Parts: sequence; structure tokens; C-alpha cells
Amino acid sequence: MARPYNDSGTCLAAAKKLNIVLASAEVAPLAKTGGLADVASALPAWLHDAGHDVRLLMPRYAMLERQDLKIHKVRQLQDLVLRAGTREIRYAIDTTILPGTSLPVLLLRCPELYGRDSIYTEDADEHLRFILLSRAALEMCRQMHFAPDIVHCHDWHTALIPLYLRARYGSDALFRKARSVMTIHNIGYQGVFGAGILDELGLGGAAGLLHQDDLKAGQINFLKTGLLHADLITTVSPTYAQEIQGPEYGAGLDGLLRQRADSVIGILNGVDYAEWNPATDALIAANYTADDLSGKRTCKRALMKALELTAGGEQPLVGIVSRLVGQKGFELVANVLPGLMLERDFSLAVLGSGESRYERLFSRLQEVFPDRVHFSKGYNNELAHQIEAGADLFLMPSRYEPCGLNQMYSLKYGTVPIVRKTGGLADSVQAVDAQSASGTGIVFEHYDDSGLRWALRTALDLYSNAPVFRQIMLNGMAEDFSWASQGALYEALFRRQLE
Ligand code: ADP
Ligand code: GLC
Repeated sequence: MARPYNDSGTCLAAAKKLNIVLASAEVAPLAKTGGLADVASALPAWLHDAGHDVRLLMPRYAMLERQDLKIHKVRQLQDLVLRAGTREIRYAIDTTILPGTSLPVLLLRCPELYGRDSIYTEDADEHLRFILLSRAALEMCRQMHFAPDIVHCHDWHTALIPLYLRARYGSDALFRKARSVMTIHNIGYQGVFGAGILDELGLGGAAGLLHQDDLKAGQINFLKTGLLHADLITTVSPTYAQEIQGPEYGAGLDGLLRQRADSVIGILNGVDYAEWNPATDALIAANYTADDLSGKRTCKRALMKALELTAGGEQPLVGIVSRLVGQKGFELVANVLPGLMLERDFSLAVLGSGESRYERLFSRLQEVFPDRVHFSKGYNNELAHQIEAGADLFLMPSRYEPCGLNQMYSLKYGTVPIVRKTGGLADSVQAVDAQSASGTGIVFEHYDDSGLRWALRTALDLYSNAPVFRQIMLNGMAEDFSWASQGALYEALFRRQLE
């Protein structure tokens, strides 16, 4: 009889290569607004390197035409048509190698829907842009005769896939084994549209599989549909997996998630240390390691000079790199920071864009404290690396944070994070105890002004205690959140689905 296990205890049947389809609205570095893009490139790249057959699909947005990519047509995937209500949408799928990896990425070409300046729009056909992405992810399998084991969807943009799998592909032998996994990166964005789009979904008689109360109320919620039909639901940290099952963080979907509690799992995101590592980062002024931190001082000086922060190099420098939205806690920052700037000596380097009230907040702070505050409005990957390397402290006081990547980058760069104890921040930053010089960052619990004020004062005090501060930096730099461990957790989960 064949042995089910090899000598090292690995189940032989389980060692089989998996066929995985992964569809995402963002994939770094091709199209990115936030961490979704980082995960949707690093995870499939890791799975590909682990030997699985991964078919990664994303839209071919206009911004891709401005990048230096060698794009080829995929022969079987040309001249395809999607019927959406009365519309016929013509599309094709091309391919290129995802920069920095050996993974081919499939590019969904449909200029009529994706030939626009931004990834997300407020255009009237926004739903169609992501209906097509979801349908094409399954249709391309048919055309390529690719039998997926796992179809992995990310956020609302691809959350219709589990329903399509059931409703339109369920009877196709090619999809017989396929299991759907829905990963929630941010439950705050659900893709809610008027029920008027029903015909365009192309569900036919399977419309009964939509959430019927929503439909009666005139709505179709893409993320909710995904949570109803996915075989497995994951989110990007264990704490967030618990939080979203309660009303405070569940954004109206907590009841549904509680009903599916057995299928909800949290896996902390990994970090791509090929991209985010001060020892090798080509975008920063000097490289450094835990054994020799002199390069970090060079990075700070270079950053302060570039940003014209002239108020003295010995002041602590606090960095922020973020989407400037309510989720990230800027309401508290607006209440607390101006007063604290008067009370304490420190400088601030801010990079981000988003809601105009927060952009105005940082522009105003820069006007009032020109030698201590620099606000760079917009998206700038190089500056994001330079702030991670050059700052002493990194501020991330999120109201909620499914995972958060910047605090994990900060740890690696010896930039002590100041975070609120929520979601992935709670799972990745250990509260400092100055007495024993243990912990990796300043963690505050309650989302209020006094919580943030306490955290900032504690962080600034800690900075002035140089030996302890240095030890906290080193504790953080020693942490490891690599994809090698986190990718393996997904792999094990996928295999369990197929048992
Ligand atoms: P979220 O996905 O909620 O925005 P994360 O912390 O998971 O938060 O990921 C944010 C990612 O986007 C990080 O890679 C961060 O460096 C990057 N990022 C955010 N804002 C900017 C910006 N203005 N310029 C460059 N990179 C940014
Ligand atoms: C979302 C979340 C963030 C998470 C990222 C990647 O944008 O806001 O916390 O790190 O997705 O999973």
C-alpha cells in the first residue's frame, strides 16, 4: 500500500501542486492605492515560487500603458464578449511578467471600461468594471482549460466570483473541485449599488441567490454577496477576524459573519522584504542594519534636508505615510497634534492624499511650523521608503486597521511605531515597557484624544531615553513578518479546503 506520509511527515497527497486563480483590482507595482496591491502581488508570487500554478488577473488600466512593460497577447483569450443586460462588452486578456517576480500576470484589456486615469472611479458604470473582472476570472479558466482548485477573491471588486462560480459554472466539470476563498482587506468598502444593475449581473434564474432583503430594499452589496457564497472567508489579521464579528467593526456585516464564524479566519499579511529592507533598499540615502545603525542617521539627515525641515537634526522626526481618510485616525490627529507641536519639540514628515479636510490640516500645520512640518500631498513610493528609513517614530493611530503594512515596514527600519491597539496593529506591535526595554512600539487602547496624546508624549519621552529607545528599535528590527511563514498559512488553508 502506498505510504500517505514521507519521512519528514509531509502528507504526500497534500504536496500536490495547486491550481489557483487570484483576481484583484490592484496589484503592485502596476496599480496601487494601498496595501491590497502589495498583498495581491506578494502572495501570488510566493505561491508561484512554492510551485503552484497561479493565474493572477487584474484590469489593464490606462496607467499600465505608461509603464515600460513587455505585454503579449494570450492566444486563447482574444475576442471575448460579455453580455451585461443589453450591453455587449468586448474584452481580451494579455500577459506580462509582474515586475520584480517571475510570475506572469494576466491583464484584462477593455479600454472602454479600464482606459481611465484612476483605478477606482465614481462613474456610472463602476459596477460593470468589476463585474467584468469577476466574470473574466472564471471565463478565462474555461478558455484555457484550466481547472482551478482555489479561486481567491479580494475585497468587493471580485466578491461576485463565489456567486458566479455557483450560479454559472457549477455544472461545468472543469470547476467541479473549485473552492472559493474571499479575503476581506477592508470591510469599510462594500461595493453597494442600486438593484437596477440586476440584469447586468447576468445571473438569470440564479438571481434568487442574491441577498433577498437587500434586493427588496433596492440594493445589491457585492461584498455581502461574496461573504454569503464563498467557501471560506479570510481577513488580514486574527484580531480583525474577531473584531468584524461585532457591531463596532462589522460595518453592518457582523451578523452574517457571526453566522459563518466557523469559516472566518484571520491571517496576518506578510511583508515583502525584497522591497522593504533597510539593508538593501536602493531608494534610501544609506543602507543600514541592526549591527550598524549609522546609515539610519544619514537617512534622517538626508530626509530633513530634502524636506527643508531645518529645526535641528536632534529633534525626533515623526513620519506618516497614509491614505488620508477617517479609518486612519486623522480625526484624533487633528485634535491633538497642533497643541502638542506647541508643547514639545519634534518634526513631522507627512506623505499622503485623501479627504480634503485632512489635506488642509497638514497644509496648515506646514504653514504655521514651516521648519518643523513637511506635507507631501500625493503618492510617492520613493518618499514612502525615505520616510520609513529617516523618521524616528511612525504614527498610525487608526480607528480600525484590518492589517496595516506600514507599521511592519517601520519595525524593520528601526522606526518605532505609535499605533492604536486594533486589528493588525494589535497583532504586530508589542507595547513597550521602558523599565525592561521590552516591546516594539507605543500602543494606545482607547480611540480618543487623550489616548493619542498619551501615546505621543510617551513616544517622545522614550526617544529622549537614548539607550532604551535604541533597544526598542532593535527589538522591532528583529521581528520577522515575511511571506515565507504567512504564505504557508494560506497554502495550508487552501489544502484543507480541498480535503
Ligand atoms: P491601506 O491599504 O489601508 O492604505 P496599508 O498600511 O496596508 O494601508 O498599506 C498602505 C500601502 O500603501 C503601503 O505600502 C504604503 O507604503 C503605501 N502608501 C500609502 N500611501 C502612500 C503614498 N501617499 N505614497 C506612497 N505609498 C503610499
Ligand atoms: C486594506 C487595509 C489594510 C491592509 C491592506 C492589505 O487596505 O486597510 O489594513 O493592510 O488592506 O491587506
